[in-house]
Amino acid sequence: MSYPYQIKSVDQYNAAYEKSVKDPEGFWGEVAANFYWRKKWDKVLEWNFKKPTIKWFGGGKLNITENCIDRHLDTLGNTPAIIWESNDPEEHHRVLTYRDLHAKVVQFANVLKNNGVKKGDRVCIYMGMVPELAIAVLACARIGAIHSVVFGGFSAQSIADRLQDAKAEFVVTMDGAFRGNKEIPLKSVIDDALVQCPFVKRVIVLTRTRTAVSMIKGRDVWWEDEIRIVETQGNPDCPAEEMDAEDMLFILYTSGSTGKPKGVVHTCGGYMVYTNYSFVNVFQYQPGDVHFCTADIGWITGHSYIVYGPLSAGATSLMFEGIPTWPNAGRFWDIVDKYKVNVLYTAPTAIRSLMGFGLDPVKDHKLDSLKVLGTVGEPINEEAWHWYDEHIGKKKCPIVDTWWQTETGGILISNLAGVTPAKPAHATLPLPGVQPILVDENGKEVTGNSVSGNLCIKFPWPGMLRTTYGDHERCRQNYFATYDNLYFTGDGCLRDEVGNYRITGRVDDVLNVSGHRIGTAEVENAINMHAGVVESAVVGYPHDIKGQGIYAFVIYQGTHGDDTLARQDITKTVSRIIGAIAKPDKIQFVSGLPKTRSGKIMRRILRKIAEGEIDKLGDTSTLLDPAVVNEIANGRL
Ligand code: WTA
Repeated sequence: MSYPYQIKSVDQYNAAYEKSVKDPEGFWGEVAANFYWRKKWDKVLEWNFKKPTIKWFGGGKLNITENCIDRHLDTLGNTPAIIWESNDPEEHHRVLTYRDLHAKVVQFANVLKNNGVKKGDRVCIYMGMVPELAIAVLACARIGAIHSVVFGGFSAQSIADRLQDAKAEFVVTMDGAFRGNKEIPLKSVIDDALVQCPFVKRVIVLTRTRTAVSMIKGRDVWWEDEIRIVETQGNPDCPAEEMDAEDMLFILYTSGSTGKPKGVVHTCGGYMVYTNYSFVNVFQYQPGDVHFCTADIGWITGHSYIVYGPLSAGATSLMFEGIPTWPNAGRFWDIVDKYKVNVLYTAPTAIRSLMGFGLDPVKDHKLDSLKVLGTVGEPINEEAWHWYDEHIGKKKCPIVDTWWQTETGGILISNLAGVTPAKPAHATLPLPGVQPILVDENGKEVTGNSVSGNLCIKFPWPGMLRTTYGDHERCRQNYFATYDNLYFTGDGCLRDEVGNYRITGRVDDVLNVSGHRIGTAEVENAINMHAGVVESAVVGYPHDIKGQGIYAFVIYQGTHGDDTLARQDITKTVSRIIGAIAKPDKIQFVSGLPKTRSGKIMRRILRKIAEGEIDKLGDTSTLLDPAVVNEIANGRL
């Protein structure tokens, strides 16, 4: 594979950037010409941010799996597409070449068809990090079914919410998943979810842990049995379904500041072009490189930079089932040496947690195959950046600090590895094709350098979300209504003296815990469901490893047990309703919450208390009951 659109120098970056602004359609038309289209598009772009309507490559016909698999078969048939490392370091790894991947995807696509899945149907995938997860995702795309992958850490209730929202009639799952020394009983969680989802017709269950599961006659089938059926049918081909560029490819649920998680929708053509373009440019991927993205496919990072970006570029993508600290904190480094990993892409929270183990787990490793390091998901602090640079990259690997979101589909702001300069803790510059702008509270543009503001994007890019599933108005409200004619990211941002961007964190009520997005309102709703809880307010506070921790202020009138028990019960409730990732780190019982006279909770004050900045509470005189602030501050955990 060659990538004619790969930018190789600062001059090329500047020229590409200029072209992308002056002639966006020409710019993206040239990038898109490098893919396999059954029919070329009629128009590169039509857009209106007010509605919003965003159409890329309208009239174009394609199937993303032909671009991710079929077109590589002649030249890369025997090249590893996916290398899989088990949770258990003793278990033999698996390598799927592009030819193997093709065979498996075709086979499972036929399984889906045999089970009644049709183009446009929604398929919920709830699995651990095994190759079959990538296979299931691609098999859906092959037949034009819309996948909705749900991270294996979410609870039954969260799955039920997502199944109902997407009206998904099909589920692909596994008996259980291995994660470190734990076994996650995925099928059993699905069974709990399905109590609320009688419309689900079929559940396909892959065997992994072989824990006991209940299989309901007429609804649940084993993956392996279904594969055998396809084999007895003679392993027929499954030609890829022809899709419109703007047909839905997938839904991925993500948290916002209000309500339940929303289903961010990405479409086939633009998402394919953008994930590939950003992959090739940011990581400066060279054919033959081994790319190791440590994210879970349950998050957007896994969708874009384990599956679609790398595979569409004919890359070798390494998939890891386990966790960085098991059986010990050298696991990532073992994997880097074992497979001669060239690009390592991980989260600041992982780096910080590994830093905590000191240099012993690193020291017996060569790490000399590494060429590029990347981070994603949250701001990286300078200390972690330097540790990564010195001890992992040995000061010779550029670090790309990639800023983007579930909604953006791919990386929007980042240095290009070794091409444009890095600056610790700064995402630096937008990719060509991306037009960021900072605005103040009133939506007025903040111009010039050494300034700060709310980060917006003023022009569409192919990977952006098109809608939120089943509720377009919610999409408009959330992203396009805050500021006129702009996509609002929800992030605060600084622009330094030479124009580098530094994302400082969310300015809305969304937390970023270990790189995972969690809405404060969602956590509050879960806490409030616990018997005995009268009211609660949740804020974030700085946490050494997680980036942000969850601090809950709770008015509690329960009678059942002491405070410690009550806290445990509340935590359990949150795990049940959302998942363990949303468990509060601190729960403080209070007698009241600081409210304005109109009854609005003053989160600003609670945030300051949680952060320990009690002397910076500001004016509290407008509160309904100013005395409650002192009481809360004194009781701070
Ligand atoms: C944050 C993850 C600082 C940001 C791909 C964003 C970052 C949210 C960075 C999206 C970064 C992501 N520096 N902050 N390099 N990357 N964020 O949807 O607040 O899970 O809005 O997508 O993570 O999280 P999401």
